[in-house]
Amino acid sequence: MKAVLATPALIDTELPEPTPGPRDLLVRIEAVAVNPVDSKVRGAITAGEGPKQLGWDAAGVVTAVGARTDRFKPGDEVMFAGAIDRPGCHAEAVLVDERLVGRRPASLSWAEAAAVPLTGLTAWEALFERLRLDPSGGHQGTSLLILGGAGGVGSIAIQLAKGAGLTVIASASRPESAAWVRELGATHVVDHHQPLVPQLAALGLAPVDLIANFSDTDAYWEVMAELIRPQGAIVAIVGNRRPLDLNLLKAKSVHLAWEFMFTRSQFQTADMGRQGEILDRLADRFDRGELRSTLCRTLGPINAANLERAYGELASGRMIGKLALSAWPPAPGGADRRPPVEHR
Ligand SMILES: NC(=O)c1ccc[n+]([C@@H]2O[C@H](COP(=O)([O-])OP(=O)(O)OC[C@H]3O[C@@H](n4cnc5c(N)ncnc54)[C@H](OP(=O)(O)O)[C@@H]3O)[C@@H](O)[C@H]2O)c1
Repeated sequence: MKAVLATPALIDTELPEPTPGPRDLLVRIEAVAVNPVDSKVRGAITAGEGPKQLGWDAAGVVTAVGARTDRFKPGDEVMFAGAIDRPGCHAEAVLVDERLVGRRPASLSWAEAAAVPLTGLTAWEALFERLRLDPSGGHQGTSLLILGGAGGVGSIAIQLAKGAGLTVIASASRPESAAWVRELGATHVVDHHQPLVPQLAALGLAPVDLIANFSDTDAYWEVMAELIRPQGAIVAIVGNRRPLDLNLLKAKSVHLAWEFMFTRSQFQTADMGRQGEILDRLADRFDRGELRSTLCRTLGPINAANLERAYGELASGRMIGKLALSAWPPAPGGADRRPPVEHR
């Protein structure tokens, strides 16, 4: 099967197809989306270490199942982010524990579906588990500041938060990213390259009830402590690089939560299957028209050159929504060994 490995240079290669373990699905990959975690893992590859198969956002078709699986069967169309401690999705056939897998939304193309899992899980867990909001709503009158509103995570989080009734203030620094977050449901937009406190004060929205920081935890630590209301809550998804003064949150009794999308798979938590359930709930919402795709750009086919282009765009820090790659290059000689799959 075709695969792309990081040495850290990206190389196109051929690998043997893996064999499913008891809880695994073997999935033929139709599309993948890129995320900053790919570049972080790639950047940490040391000399002498073996090459790594990156990629933790995919959609495809189940082709084989392990002996102890019961949620999917060959032919099912699925989407998943998978586990950070297993090979990623940059191969024609990939193994994934079925508890981490959701059905592909029927209303989304392969590329659109591949753009859902990693950011969808992160946003869902951040809002509805770490901040303990109710996904079905009832949060009218509660304000949420989203830092990094137009990125992959922010783009889905804005929609989920809006759907739960929150008043969303999203940060975006450019006319096009500001327009995008408004389209997705942000009521107010602030520019993260300008001082935030006066902007929130001018909107009459300081202090805010909740903050979801989908950007740089260090850079916003002090201002988050200033902006959050007493007994408010903050969720962060990016690890700090410098020591943070926790005492800044003490006087206000602020709740701080971390969200890491790979916690459940990494620690094989008893509720690992929650991720499959969340992905199915997201699929239902896409199919009911309650969520719109966050995919903004598709490259193809899936190969080292196109992944390199995608990582270059991601590294700019100016992504709006998601970027995906769709379909594999045809086999040499023109004959594709795989059965044809509709590519929309
Ligand atoms: N813990 C987890 O499970 C988890 C999961 C997913 C992602 N992450 C991490 O979360 C971060 C965001 O991921 P992503 O996929 O959303 O990234 P992304 O799509 O690359 O984010 C791009 C966005 O970042 C915004 N941005 C740039 N500089 C900013 C700043 N100083 N303050 C606020 N926003 C800024 C840009 O907005 P403008 O163009 O408007 O400036 C752009 O829209 C990454 O570090 C990623 O590794 C963690």
